[in-house]
Amino acid sequence: MYRSKISGVGHYVPDNVVTNDDLSKLIDTNDEWITERTGIKERRFAGPADSPSSMGTKAALLAIERAGIDKNDIDFIIFATLSPDYYFPGPGVLVQEQLGIKEVGALDVRNQCSGFVYGLSVADQFIKTGMYKNILLIGSELHSGGLDMTTRGRGVSVIFGDGAGAVVLSRANEGEEGILSTHMHSEGKYAEELALIAPNTGRWIPTIMNNNDPDDISYYPYMNGNFVFKHAVVRFAEVIQEALQANNKNVADIDLLIPHQANLRISQFIQKKMGLSDDQVYNNIMRYGNTTAASIPIAMSEAWEEGKLKRGDTVCLAAFGSGFTWASALLKF
Ligand code: COA
Repeated sequence: MYRSKISGVGHYVPDNVVTNDDLSKLIDTNDEWITERTGIKERRFAGPADSPSSMGTKAALLAIERAGIDKNDIDFIIFATLSPDYYFPGPGVLVQEQLGIKEVGALDVRNQCSGFVYGLSVADQFIKTGMYKNILLIGSELHSGGLDMTTRGRGVSVIFGDGAGAVVLSRANEGEEGILSTHMHSEGKYAEELALIAPNTGRWIPTIMNNNDPDDISYYPYMNGNFVFKHAVVRFAEVIQEALQANNKNVADIDLLIPHQANLRISQFIQKKMGLSDDQVYNNIMRYGNTTAASIPIAMSEAWEEGKLKRGDTVCLAAFGSGFTWASALLKF
């Protein structure tokens, strides 16, 4: 059995910075409310040239370069997103085309905020069995095109931002530890507490258009914010403990926890609950908002650039989101 390691990290965010004050010109909100409830000060919104796949490809090229491999060494692509370029096919195949590499397999992961960690788990298994040596794992989201930018949608729209992150997962050398374990969960009874219901196969676009109902918000993301918050703080803590226990480690062994950037208050709550110091937790939601499947790889890439994520560190990744799904990974970077 082989082991896998993260050999390169990269990210791309659009240039267009949208501050809380900018949002308050469109909807009835303000910097104080958003900062106090979420910690977010600004986020990026995609420009006309950006798509989930193109942002993912830009992040991927950086991760490939930093992994010290050639793009033609990529054996498989995994793309996690809830905001694909098309309803189908998924963006993985578009990345294969945009990278201009050989016809490797491309898998799309639909686990929303947990998508990156789910994807990491899948990639880890392929490398462990020896099937692949280098896997490109991307998390990319373009939320801004699908948000309800009216006061009606303010409880959701102020939270989300656009961007992409990527890692290359490679076969570890003899003696290297790399990914130690991954853990995944779901609880589908809460599927509609954080969801985008339409279009779906029962309510396709013509039905929605024929109804022409201005109050139909089923094609905007819905979030029962308070409910999500309460479940998130429990599940994040549980799944981090699960990863530590599986490896006979404790909280003090974590050099860096990179939680999915859902809400700064959620991260702070977990930090306090678990007794982690400020140096042990990385947050960048202040600058990017919640970028769903992209948030962990963007944070990993930024933390690496800032020297806060170092080779040999014991790193815990944890996520919670729509599904509900939640997941964690413990790794030696
Ligand atoms: N600006 C100003 N006021 C707003 C607002 C906004 N953007 N959004 C909602 N409000 C108002 C509400 O209308 C409500 O007003 P009312 O009391 O007059 O009815 C009030 O603020 C409180 O709304 P509520 O939804 O109860 O706020 P909250 O304290 O639960 O905070 C969230 C809302 C979304 C920030 C919070 O619930 C949260 O972070 N949940 C978790 C979300 C999350 O992490 N999602 C991602 C998971 S992956």
